[in-house]
Amino acid sequence: MMRADRLATFQESLIREMTRLAIAHGAINLSQGFPDYPTPLELKQAAVDAIMGDHNQYAITWGSRRLREALAAKLHRWYGLDVDAERHITICVGVTEAIVVTLLSIVNPDDEVVIVEPFHENFYPATLFAQGIPRYVALEPPDFRLDPDKLRRAFSPRTRAIILNTPHNPTGRVFTREELQGVADLCQEFDAIAVTDEIYEHITYDGRQHIPIASLPGMAERTVLCGGLSKTYAITGWRLAYTVAPDEISTAIRTVHDFTTICAPTPLQEAAVTAVNFPASYYHELAEAYHARRDKMMAILDDCGFKAMRPEGAYYVMADFRDLGFPTDDDHAFARWLTTEVGVAVVPGSSFYRTPGLGRGLVRFAFPKKLETLDAAHDRLKTGLAKLRQGAVSLSTVG
Ligand SMILES: Cc1ncc(COP(=O)(O)O)c(C=O)c1O
Repeated sequence: MMRADRLATFQESLIREMTRLAIAHGAINLSQGFPDYPTPLELKQAAVDAIMGDHNQYAITWGSRRLREALAAKLHRWYGLDVDAERHITICVGVTEAIVVTLLSIVNPDDEVVIVEPFHENFYPATLFAQGIPRYVALEPPDFRLDPDKLRRAFSPRTRAIILNTPHNPTGRVFTREELQGVADLCQEFDAIAVTDEIYEHITYDGRQHIPIASLPGMAERTVLCGGLSKTYAITGWRLAYTVAPDEISTAIRTVHDFTTICAPTPLQEAAVTAVNFPASYYHELAEAYHARRDKMMAILDDCGFKAMRPEGAYYVMADFRDLGFPTDDDHAFARWLTTEVGVAVVPGSSFYRTPGLGRGLVRFAFPKKLETLDAAHDRLKTGLAKLRQGAVSLSTVG
């Protein structure tokens, strides 16, 4: 065996596999969460200007000072957080890297890491890279609430950290102040660190507000806030994110980040200052545009007979397909069939859980798409799902 043992329980990202399948079958890709609408023109121009202005060599390891200062000011403006850009912020290569370097910085071998499932795919590998032991707390349909008793049972004196993503991918939950306070109380009782993934902070619906757990009393000193630029500014390919951490952890994160990447791309960091300084109207329009997408996605699912919790934030919905007449509740079979035969790619629900049995009967739709893309998906779903009602799809045809 040429491969390291630590990879034994890893699978390739199913989301990227679904994307490949979507391309091979000409399916509309509602599996991977990236926008199909353009990046703001001003940002593209800022990136060109940064390159032409010769911001092309290594940046300071922990990131461009202008960008860190802009982020600190924004965190204060939005959430009242007092962040020292010189000490607490590190610019990372995506939240993906931020989570990995954070866990490598705080987790000792055999420390326990609480993971709320269903979860974004990199939390498990990140925990294993750090030789931590994952402990799961499941959010379950129909309302995917954080159950305080289940949460308490997942904590122990060996708990080092909890990874908390809000607004949440894939359920669309935005955790309430009460739910977050429950997490904060346990972190304090068990001397654990909250590692957050707040990449969807600006995508919330129906007047909800994202609350960083670091803003709760006593939590700033035991939270590593991971924030990302990918989704808010439609720049998933720029690979920019940041951690906000208390002094000692911040120093550790900067060291690990240095030895894995040296720094995030310099010209894009410079250009991102323009993004972070966008006026309030930008965020308002972003939320409005996502409202329209969310409402359309829900209308489509409703029209087609799926059952789903209306997302409170982020841009995903977990949809229950068990009433549609598909011959099995196997979510992998349904996702494959929908992608290859109907032409709409989605992700099997169980792939977001590690606890066996959870997520069956569910698939995740991602809707950061132009309204016409969603309309086209609607047409295909209507035609394809009609075949189910006619009984034209049997177990033998879906393999
Ligand atoms: C919850 C969550 N965290 C992180 C990421 C990846 O973030 P980045 O592009 O900053 O690496 C995604 C992407 O879909 C996500 O949904």
